[in-house]
Amino acid sequence: MTSATQPVSADDPFEDGVSRRLRIAFVGKGGAGKSSIAGTLARLLAAGGEPVVCLDSDPLPGLATSLGIATSDAGIPDEAVEEAPEGERARYRLATGLTSEAAIRRYADTGPDGVRFLQFGKTRGHVAPLMRSQFAFRHIVADIDDTPWHVIGDLPAGTRQPFFGWAGFAHLVLVVAEPAMSSMLSAKRLARLGEGENAPLVAAIANKTRRDDDADLVSQATGLPVWASAPVDPAVREAEHLGVPIIDHAPDSPTVQALRSLLERLHNEERSSP
Ligand SMILES: Nc1ncnc2c1ncn2[C@@H]1O[C@H](COP(=O)(O)OP(=O)(O)O)[C@@H](O)[C@H]1O
Ligand SMILES: [Mg+2]
Repeated sequence: MTSATQPVSADDPFEDGVSRRLRIAFVGKGGAGKSSIAGTLARLLAAGGEPVVCLDSDPLPGLATSLGIATSDAGIPDEAVEEAPEGERARYRLATGLTSEAAIRRYADTGPDGVRFLQFGKTRGHVAPLMRSQFAFRHIVADIDDTPWHVIGDLPAGTRQPFFGWAGFAHLVLVVAEPAMSSMLSAKRLARLGEGENAPLVAAIANKTRRDDDADLVSQATGLPVWASAPVDPAVREAEHLGVPIIDHAPDSPTVQALRSLLERLHNEERSSP
């Protein structure tokens, strides 16, 4: 058996506790397909009646389109931010009394199927400077475990952000990799950065595959089990060109099918874990 088809680890990608919500962070090299995949997975979850919040911590656009949120200004306004008391590491924090749940209810956009969407580093109306909004975003993310939503995070490319605070909420890190050397080596590095104390479970998504053995190639090159594999899919490009979500444009396309299978797998994991 190849590593790509090995049984998944018995670790639990779901939150322990009552709600057992998913906490997933998508990472990977720029252009690998993080935003397309994260948004589509979130929509699939939401279409099944599940409560979902998406965290967009990439200052570059992408996730909003794959969710179907045309122009989002879902940032955190000044009123939600206050200066932290002296001696605290962060300079700003969420206003006293404002929980992560309340902040998401108030400031996240609501997209198709009820998906909530919160952005880092964007502002609306009379708003805090970017920096203050970003402190508040981090604060929300740090306490997101206490909220009732499944959490899907789309992280920016690069190795720095993902594992230094921003992906702290994740119980499962999905590394999106194309079957191309630079993409796979990036994925391998990202996977290693995730190791350590309180390490989340890490798996790969092989995206834009062209050959049957591309998933195996990704698995071998990254050292990760491949949990889903999507081919180069013209429907994804078309959807992007039209500025509409993949799931609305081509709900039966191979990419959406691959993510349906991934979701099934995640649900099965949930059932089989203690
Ligand atoms: N399976 C796929 N088949 C074809 N094109 C894809 C696929 N997945 C993503 N793309 C395209 O690749 C580009 C990068 O995707 P995107 O999701 O923005 O990546 P990232 O968020 O990792 O930077 C986009 O043009 C997108 O339409
Ligand atoms: Mg992106």
